[in-house]
Amino acid sequence: MSFSCRNGLLLEATEVYIAGTVTIANPAYSTKSCRYGAEALREAALLIRAGEPVAVPTETVYGLAADATDSHAVAAIYSAKGRPSFNPLIVHVSDRAMAERLADFSPVAMRLADRFWPGPLTLVLPVRTDSGLSPLVMAGLPTVALRLPAHPAMRALIRESGRPLAAPSANRSGSISPTRAEHVLASLNGKVRMILDEGPTSEGVESTIAAPDADQVRLLRPGPVTAAMLEEASGLPVVIGNGAHKIEAPGQLESHYAPSKPVRLNALRAEKDEYLIGFGLMPCHINLSPDANVREAAASLFAALHIADASAAVKIAVAPVPMEGIGAAINDRLKRAAA
Ligand code: TXA
Ligand code: MG
Repeated sequence: MSFSCRNGLLLEATEVYIAGTVTIANPAYSTKSCRYGAEALREAALLIRAGEPVAVPTETVYGLAADATDSHAVAAIYSAKGRPSFNPLIVHVSDRAMAERLADFSPVAMRLADRFWPGPLTLVLPVRTDSGLSPLVMAGLPTVALRLPAHPAMRALIRESGRPLAAPSANRSGSISPTRAEHVLASLNGKVRMILDEGPTSEGVESTIAAPDADQVRLLRPGPVTAAMLEEASGLPVVIGNGAHKIEAPGQLESHYAPSKPVRLNALRAEKDEYLIGFGLMPCHINLSPDANVREAAASLFAALHIADASAAVKIAVAPVPMEGIGAAINDRLKRAAA
């Protein structure tokens, strides 16, 4: 092979037990993790066009991407993740023209897209009847969640495959989100054919999800684009949560992003058997940001949880992280990890 790939272990043709609890079916192939580049991109796009999911970095977390117009491909995402039911997925686009072929943009939506795209903001918008999207992507809702990511690898994959890509985080359902190719390999080896590796992601937590109404913006998931930033850009009040609209989706579930060990929050010191994740100068096993910088903490959050989960300690403790800026998203994820 002329480009740089590593193969995951080819698992035996038997059932595989993970952490003594979950059984996954006989894996059919080994997963290869390839350094992002022209050749790897071409191969990934061929897989996408053949209806196969591919793991690809975005600026937030690695996504498990598949053709959003192909129901078989979308179903393959769910089966690789072991997600028990169909929930709406975010559709990633490479430019505004592609986005406007999929959904209707109100003036408020236009303003938010102008200000934050490309970047870590997902907009929930009325889906167009001629969008061509698989109905599985919306899971029966009249809206679609759209995102124009900033990461060159994801955008290039969308362009090269010529398809909008549905992409949840590239991990087994309910577990910690991946911010490195190694995390994806550890979680989905044997479940996906290919991972595009472009190093650690820069933002570290999933995109902000917002639904713009005519007179307000609903903040459905906190992320790198904060409520204050949405308010400033839209000129409208931002309400937290979904108001009267009801949607049940995994990122909104109480327990999500969960390590396999108990997690204690607002810890100032490690108790016996605990692995302490610190913030700011303090004695701890790993530190999200010795300088107490919330952006740095967001970028290292999931990697720290992965390391704590793999440590010999039986429990995880996490220091308090302030709510300022992206700190709201960090606390949201920590609360779900501890639930
Ligand atoms: O940063 C991210 O957004 C990552 C990367 C890979 O781009 N993607 C991601 O996708 O987090 P996913 O599929 O895990 O996010 C799905 C979430 C659901 O939990 C749900 O809350 C919301 O998006 N969602 C999707 N469609 C929706 C809709 N029509 N209405 C409301 N929420 C929706
Ligand atoms: Mg996820």
